[in-house]
Amino acid sequence: MKLKDFRTFFNNELSELYPKKEIDAFFFRSVEAILDLQIMDVFMKENTNIEKENLAVLQIITGRLKLEEPIQYILGTTEFYGYTFNVNPGVLIPRPETEELISWVKETYSNNSEKLSILDIGTGSGCIAITLKKEIVSAEVSAMDISEKAIKTATKNASLNKVAVNFIQHDILSTTHIENTFDVIVSNPPYVRNLEKEEIKNNVLNNEPHLALFVEDDNPLIFYKRIADFAKDNLKQAGSLFFEINQYLGTETKQMLLDKGFKDVVLKKDLFGNDRMIKANF
Ligand SMILES: C[S@@+](CC[C@H](N)C(=O)[O-])C[C@H]1O[C@@H](n2cnc3c(N)ncnc32)[C@H](O)[C@@H]1O
Repeated sequence: MKLKDFRTFFNNELSELYPKKEIDAFFFRSVEAILDLQIMDVFMKENTNIEKENLAVLQIITGRLKLEEPIQYILGTTEFYGYTFNVNPGVLIPRPETEELISWVKETYSNNSEKLSILDIGTGSGCIAITLKKEIVSAEVSAMDISEKAIKTATKNASLNKVAVNFIQHDILSTTHIENTFDVIVSNPPYVRNLEKEEIKNNVLNNEPHLALFVEDDNPLIFYKRIADFAKDNLKQAGSLFFEINQYLGTETKQMLLDKGFKDVVLKKDLFGNDRMIKANF
């Protein structure tokens, strides 16, 4: 089959499920991964015949997209802050909002000459911990997750990106004390309430780990409260806590931190104008 004919097949198969722009993005990601073609090549080589084995793989990808599997899990990788991360259904696919959290941490310490110690809680693929280590080279970075699969994936991602991060498999909800103290504690914990499930697309709901996403409606800040208490014991003097937050719970999260005695609490919006991040000092 010629490349242009496969593109027509791909569009036809997926047109009822996804907007055209998204189908184009899937197409270019797939042909780049399987045929090693960049966007410009696709136009120049549209009459090239696709080899039989490659065509079979591309057809499998098309079938899995029809089942609404995320392209990142199908191809096994994603890009985050310009770095490549392996992903699988055991870890959340890193989101663009989380890149904004990284930028905020980075900006905060741009004039810092001290060697920072950083802890990322709920590390998943390791995207926050590994990116911070790449961007703030002198920092000493640790990362925690309850999930064995997450710790394994994050460990591989640290090797892939050639950085050293100290990974710990731990349940933050039952961690009362750990030895170290940190200049920065950062976390993007589970924060989607069950009542928000209706807003979640099928490809997320049916494929991404619920352990990484959901919290009970009657205690949506469970992780934030626990991590705040942990931070009170484990932040160094003048240390800071950074959270990615549920956009609907900005005011409540800010108030919870103030009630626990945090100061300089700053709520920040993401590029879409939603309350998405909080920084606080203790
Ligand atoms: C929203 S995901 C964030 C993943 C990653 N940091 C990111 O930003 O893409 C939340 C993470 O918290 C982890 N988690 C859930 N419950 C936990 C617990 N009790 N203790 C530690 N980590 C937990 C999940 O396994 C998941 O990796």
